[in-house]
Amino acid sequence: METRRVADILKNGQPEETVIVKGWVRTKRELKGFSFTEVNDGSSLAGLQVVIDSGISDYDTIIKKINTGASIEVGGKLVSSQGKGQKIELQADSVIVYGEADAETYPLQKKRHSFEFLRTINHLRSRTNTLGAVFRVRNACSVAIHQFFQEKGFMWIHSPIITASDCEGAGELFTVTNFDLNNLPKNATGEVDYSQDFFGKPAYLTVSGQLQAEVMAMAFQNVYTFGPTFRAENSNTSRHLAEFWMVEPEMAFCDLEGDQNLAEEFLKYIFKYVLATCPEDIEFFNKWINKTILATADNIINNEFARITYTKAIEILEGADKKFQFPVEWGIDLQSEHERYLAEELFKKPVIVTNYPKEIKAFYMRLDEGEKTVSAMDVLAPGIGEIIGGSQREERLDVLERRIQETGIEADDLWWYLDLRRYGTVPHAGFGLGFERLVQFITGMNNIRDVIPFPRTPLNAEF
Ligand code: 4AD
Ligand code: MG
Repeated sequence: METRRVADILKNGQPEETVIVKGWVRTKRELKGFSFTEVNDGSSLAGLQVVIDSGISDYDTIIKKINTGASIEVGGKLVSSQGKGQKIELQADSVIVYGEADAETYPLQKKRHSFEFLRTINHLRSRTNTLGAVFRVRNACSVAIHQFFQEKGFMWIHSPIITASDCEGAGELFTVTNFDLNNLPKNATGEVDYSQDFFGKPAYLTVSGQLQAEVMAMAFQNVYTFGPTFRAENSNTSRHLAEFWMVEPEMAFCDLEGDQNLAEEFLKYIFKYVLATCPEDIEFFNKWINKTILATADNIINNEFARITYTKAIEILEGADKKFQFPVEWGIDLQSEHERYLAEELFKKPVIVTNYPKEIKAFYMRLDEGEKTVSAMDVLAPGIGEIIGGSQREERLDVLERRIQETGIEADDLWWYLDLRRYGTVPHAGFGLGFERLVQFITGMNNIRDVIPFPRTPLNAEF
């Protein structure tokens, strides 16, 4: 007998085939002479209905042990199902119970639980319908990302997790040290002596792999990173994590327009891929989580994104007949309410905003003519706000040196980054996609804590 996954059986199983299935019990219903049990193995939203006849050996003992949450192995024959809801079910010949789950204490009994509650049982929540669907979609998004870039000839590069530079210059860094924090070595002036630390200087968890992606793009032309990034940002919102995954393509010989084109093509590709590979999970989200999910996907795939400059966006916001909490004027950083007004209410689709004031963006962005703005772009998504941030990079050595000085960044640490402008510099551009925000966008999940298996947020590193 062949061990098979539930998803495969539900899709391809034929009556009379003998199979073995392993999984966790979702429900059990005892009737006269037999019982129904639903087994889920994580491969699909739907479980497999198993019929256990009271004639199998040890029936009474086994059936007592099969409570919700128990792990079992069932061998038997597939038969056409009489009941509604499924085409095929498994008629058990043998049942092995691996681990029982006490009905009194197992927290996931069959009822709806709030997402807040599920976060307190993070180690068990992936066994629920919603989190199961989220993590299958998250997996599909990862595959889509690699497939998209590989098809286009981009090389996946592994940027370091430990770094000495603050790419975004926002100071949201977690320090990495092996100092004994109760006994810090000090120098003559009483400051911490980092020369005695593990790396001989201050080191941090990376906030972005971009600077290293630029290095690799100067050798391989088109590259991307896909890995964890960290921000000690003390914001407890439904859009921020302290540890999140980012996808960062970087392209040599590319300008801001090429960057926008890639971002748009990329998002469309991922949506198409997920719709094609996870239709049941997406239907589930559309029914139970957010009824606009399918319409949103359709909108993303079939409509061009809006593209406006920051200056134009400010004009629009100033003219809007809407009261914003944060007043609008040229020079401000767009707040979530502004971003959402543009994407949700005005354009009703993703909007790419470009050419932001240089004061509110990072040092590496290419200075525009007139020197007021930089060649930045943010992709704003309905329901999410900023999902992608990117730019054309400053490839001119003298301008970059000036910008580093203006922004007060330590130039000595960036000697290698400046070398890229000394030797064979080219116009280049890239962006960063917040992976969890993408999963939120596709699934309609409200809180970013519910689209990553183990969320890390202020005051929370449990599990
Ligand atoms: O806009 P950000 O800060 O851009 C960069 O880090 C650039 N170096 C990217 C590049 O050009 N290669 O971050 C990129 C994206 C944001 O648009 C957002 O989607 C996501 O990362 N992001 C977060 N996601 C979850 N939690 C946080 N704390 C996030 N901060 C940024
Ligand atoms: Mg940004």
